[in-house]
Parts: sequence; structure tokens; C-alpha cells
Amino acid sequence: MSHSSNAVPLTARAGSPLKGRIRVPGDKSISHRSIMFSTLAIGRSTVEGILESEDVLNTIGAMRAVGARVERPADGRWSIEGIGLGSLLEPAGVIDFGNAGTGVRLTMGIVGSHPIATTFVGDASLSRRPMGRVLDPLRMMGAEVVARSGDRLPLSIRGPKTATPLTYRVPVPSAQVKSAVLLAGLNAPGVTTVIEPVATRDHTEKMLKGFGANLSVELNDAGERVIRLAGRPELKPQDVIVPGDPSSAAFPVVAALITPGSEIVVENVLLNEHRTGLFKTLQEMGADLSIVNIRETGGEELGDIVVRHSRLKGVTVPAERAPSMIDEYPVLAIAAAFAEGETVMQGLEELRVKESDRLAAVARGLEANGVTCREGESTLSVTGGGRFGGGTVVTHLDHRIAMSFLVLGLAAEKPVTVDDGAVIATSFPGFRDLMASLGAGIDEAEATNA
Ligand code: S3P
Repeated sequence: MSHSSNAVPLTARAGSPLKGRIRVPGDKSISHRSIMFSTLAIGRSTVEGILESEDVLNTIGAMRAVGARVERPADGRWSIEGIGLGSLLEPAGVIDFGNAGTGVRLTMGIVGSHPIATTFVGDASLSRRPMGRVLDPLRMMGAEVVARSGDRLPLSIRGPKTATPLTYRVPVPSAQVKSAVLLAGLNAPGVTTVIEPVATRDHTEKMLKGFGANLSVELNDAGERVIRLAGRPELKPQDVIVPGDPSSAAFPVVAALITPGSEIVVENVLLNEHRTGLFKTLQEMGADLSIVNIRETGGEELGDIVVRHSRLKGVTVPAERAPSMIDEYPVLAIAAAFAEGETVMQGLEELRVKESDRLAAVARGLEANGVTCREGESTLSVTGGGRFGGGTVVTHLDHRIAMSFLVLGLAAEKPVTVDDGAVIATSFPGFRDLMASLGAGIDEAEATNA
């Protein structure tokens, strides 16, 4: 599935200050996992506040294809009748994951330890992304893979009769890889161990425990996280409540910070410590950003983010912080354009294999709008200040590139156009309407180079 044939160019222009209280849609990571883990439990789970975006709908389609009954009653609380570990059905057709990296990689883990054959396809963006990072450990557990060279989609996996539990050190800081190995380990007899030298988002660990898995996390002498999972647990259905996605909250938050006179509150945002690096960085840059009304739901902290227009200054963002804000660098680069001095972002190698090569896409987008920046192999430096805007940004089927540059347009001197706003549906349906409710001006543009 590709958006390129029905691209919708959008233009954002500066206007009134942003004001109001909003809620962003449910967290994408937790939404995917809630459907998947409910499928692996026997009985009926419910999920409230799920993100109803294209990525998550693709995961719902995939879980239906392996046998789950997934329904959306009128009250919006999804219901999933799980069939249980070891009982997955072989999908009748190919599974199309569209743009969804998390959906496809975690599902590969699930089916990779079941004796069924599954074929995965995706859009042009997903078909460019590396899958070997997930397929390598699955092969070690006994899965057979037939893939295009370079382990790209389309590809097929047939899991073994009995998967071999594995001890695996994740070679790249990736919650998707960690999760795929753990999910495969669920249907392997014995203990699967994942060693994570660099900590990444821990929703899989927390939620699997919540569903009844026997999972422990310890730090070893080298300070690495060691996650041990006992295979073949009986997972129990749960009622999950999904908090607001901090990666989506990032867009209105930065928009308010850079638009003079703004003051907004984003309510109900997930505050998991592996997801809040952007908020910390913005505070270091001098943002008037506070988190209030902190509470807990389902083992996760959430709160309301209060943010006002602020004078920002450039900072250096250390590489160690990258996993806790990996999806937020594009919009941080926009904040950096409005900061005094230089902002240096380090340790960005993983940005090159996201929905687009985000490092290059951000740098080209900034340049197209007159912002001074320097792209290194794994670094980005942005020099703030100046007069910018007026450019058209190529989104490369990347929702976060689209939203980030629309945010730029809300405070730039000249309007900013993105070549395709349809891709935003991947993670943030209703983005335009929600931003409009705060006073933002984002409209359909004349197609230029789409
Ligand atoms: C995600 C992990 C991250 C992140 C993605 C969601 C997840 O990807 O970029 O948007 O839900 O596990 P990587 O594991 O590739 O870093």
C-alpha cells in the first residue's frame, strides 16, 4: 500500500497564537502490543483509547489473519477474543503491513516460533527497511525465511515445530528487535534471554508481565539489561487503557513553544522514562514546559504537559539520550531552528532506517526552508535564528517528517509546504483538526512536485 498515488500536499502558515487543552491519540507502541498480546491470551480482552491509525489497523488485520476475533463496539472500546499461544492459524493470504515497522517486526516474532507460513508485504517505505535485525535471531530459533536480497520485504517466514529458546544480545538499540525475540520466546520451551546493552522502551516487558508472563529484568555487572522470559506461559486476557502518545504530543508541544503568545495543555500523555527524552531536552533548551497531574494507569505513568511560547537556546543532545527520543529528532530539529545558537544531536545512526532516512530528510527539509544545518554520518547540527520558510519538503512516506515541517510552517516567516500530508494517517489521524482547534493554519496546497 503506498500513499504516493494519492498524495495530499499541505501548507502551514503562521497566524494566531496556539491556545487550548487537547488530547492526542493513544500511544502507538502500546496500541500495537495490546492487540497482539490479547491475541496470544485465551479469552476476551478489551482495549480503551487505542490509536485507530493505519499502522495499528494493519496490526488488527494481521491478528485477525492468525485467528483473533477483533471488534470495535460503538463505545470505542475494542474487544479481542484471543486464541492463545501455540494455536495461531496460518494466514490465508499475504499480510500487508503498509507503513508499519513495529507491526511487521513484532508480528514476525509472534509467527516465527509457530509452525505456520506467513508472507509479509508493505509499502515502498517499509520495503526499504532492514528486516535482518529481526530475522537473524528468528533463524537461530529455527524459523525458515525466504526474503528478497538484503532481507527486505516482501518475505515469508515458516516457524519450526518447536522453537529453540535463545540467549540474544541485541546488536542495535531497538525495542522492536528486543520485542520480536521475546515474542518468539513466548512459544519456545525454556527460557529466552535478551541482553540489552542500551535500554529502549520497555512496553513489551511491562505488558507481558501484566498479561501473566513470567518475565524478569536485571542489570548485569556491565550495566546491561538482562530480560529473562519463561516460554509457554498461559497468558490471561486483560482490560488495557492506552495513554496518549508522547511522540504525537511532541508536535503540538513544539508548535506552541515556537509560536509567539501560545499556551497549551496536552492532557493524558504517557510519561514512560524511555519515551520522555524530548521533554527533557526542551527543558534544557529553556522551554517553559511543565508536567502536572502525574498519575498511574496499568503500570505506566502519565500526566498533562503545560507549555508556553519560550525563548530557546541551542544545546548538545548526547547520544545516550537517543533511545528515549528516537522518534522525536525531526521535531526537535524544528525547535532548534528557533533556538539561539547551535543545537547538536549525536548518536543518530538509527534515524537512517526509520520510515525514511530521517537524518537526510530533515536536513533537506531544513535547507529547503533556509535553515542552516550540517548533516554528519550520525549527527545533525542546526543553527537557530534567521528568516525561514517558503520551501516544499519531500516527506518520503514519513508521517513524522510531514508533521514536523508543518510545525515549522506555523512559526516561520513564509509558509511551508509538505508534498504529502496523507501519510500522517499512519500515526496521527485527526492531526490537522486537532491543530486547527488550537488555532493553527494548515490547509491543502496546490500540488507542486507530488
Ligand atoms: C517502537 C520502537 C522504535 C520506534 C518505533 C516504535 C516500538 O523503533 O522508532 O516508532 O514500538 O517498539 P526501533 O525499535 O527500530 O528503534
